Amino acid sequence: MTLRKDEYARRRKQLMKLMGKGAIAIIPAAPERQRNSDVHYHYRPDSDFHYLTGFNEPEAVAVLIPGREQAEYILFVRDRDPTRETWDGRRAGPEGAVRDYSADDAFPVGDIDDILPGLLERCGRVYYSMGVNLDFDQRVVGWVNTLRGQTKLGIHSPQEFVALEHPLHDMRLYKSKAEATVMKRSAQIAVGAHVRAMRNTRPGVTEYEVMAELLHEFHRHQADISYHPIVGGGANGCILHYHENADTLRDGDLLLIDAGCEYGLYASDITRTFPVNGRFSPAQKAIYDIVLEAQEAAFACIKPGNHWNEPHDAAVRAITQGLVRVGLLKGRLPALIKEEAYRKFYMHRTGHWLGMDVHDVGEYKVGAEWRVFEPGMALTVEPGIYIPAGTKGVPKRWWNIGVRIEDDVLVTSSGYELLTSGLPRTTAEIERVMASAA
Ligand code: GLY
Ligand code: MN
Ligand code: MN
Repeated sequence: MTLRKDEYARRRKQLMKLMGKGAIAIIPAAPERQRNSDVHYHYRPDSDFHYLTGFNEPEAVAVLIPGREQAEYILFVRDRDPTRETWDGRRAGPEGAVRDYSADDAFPVGDIDDILPGLLERCGRVYYSMGVNLDFDQRVVGWVNTLRGQTKLGIHSPQEFVALEHPLHDMRLYKSKAEATVMKRSAQIAVGAHVRAMRNTRPGVTEYEVMAELLHEFHRHQADISYHPIVGGGANGCILHYHENADTLRDGDLLLIDAGCEYGLYASDITRTFPVNGRFSPAQKAIYDIVLEAQEAAFACIKPGNHWNEPHDAAVRAITQGLVRVGLLKGRLPALIKEEAYRKFYMHRTGHWLGMDVHDVGEYKVGAEWRVFEPGMALTVEPGIYIPAGTKGVPKRWWNIGVRIEDDVLVTSSGYELLTSGLPRTTAEIERVMASAA
């Protein structure tokens, strides 16, 4: 556990306060996923479940019943089993769930069908995230139906189903001090990985060898990938979600690396674009500097009181202006922005929330209005320009230039803190680091 027990306790308390008395929340852990025959994917706990429990075993179910006297926080977990533990690893068991994870009460998950209907019976409102785990949805419906079938015996069944993700994801949007510390660590591990990748890039090296440098740096810090890295040289850098990472890097091309790690279950998400041979060509530098200006313009909009779309609007304006300056767009700025002429070269948005999920939870709009920034929100800032070979009306010297610059920030009371600090961002800084490599 990276966070202290009281951090999880505080979250449960906050959620239970939002739920109020007469409610029950049911939160299942993510199921294990089979990769092939007897092999499973490495188990990654469900973000919502972990956020509230800190418990990382599969098959568990957390139940919160605010105001219940005997126990407000109940964990259903796999029972101890010496044989299974020899094969698959240690289990906390119900005793460990109480002792080490602060559950008020805990039971073997095999007994849940006997216990849960009784807990539901006294609750009018059920907080549950429907549609995430279809098998578990069926079980929840089954428990409710068990009660409905007993109404003639004077048994009550819940009257209301409430989407748990609404209050819970709103809580997850605001990072505590402890979370911000873990996120900064995640970002700094990824910064180290990107520096290592820059230092190990030169013509003739393959994309997968560069990916191996990233992975080495993640794993030696006990971090994992937060998504499959994008390591795309030349034309591959113009494919937004390029994932093969199979080609050999060529002299004169750019390399775009979009890679972040997950540390203590918190994601970082960084993109850098740099020349394979260590020196930007004039055309590459011209495009790079437009993207950098766009990122600076977006950064300047991140402060409490500004809304979610302001950084994007600022980035769009800077990119459109820059593309006019180098002759790739022609016309008047307001009209080009209105017609979205920039979308030919910049077709994605300027960022997303960042947290336990790389594209983290949290609404971007409240009602019809863009969300206003508040301290504790974390996001990426990632403008780009992509010019694949053969782009209509574009001279050859611009072809296969794909540039994205992506950093992670935390909104503070006065503006923002750059979590990914220390990673070269300007062309001069990048060239200096690459020159010091050999
Ligand atoms: N790596 C995914 C993203 O940048 O959103
Ligand atoms: Mn991103
Ligand atoms: Mn990214």
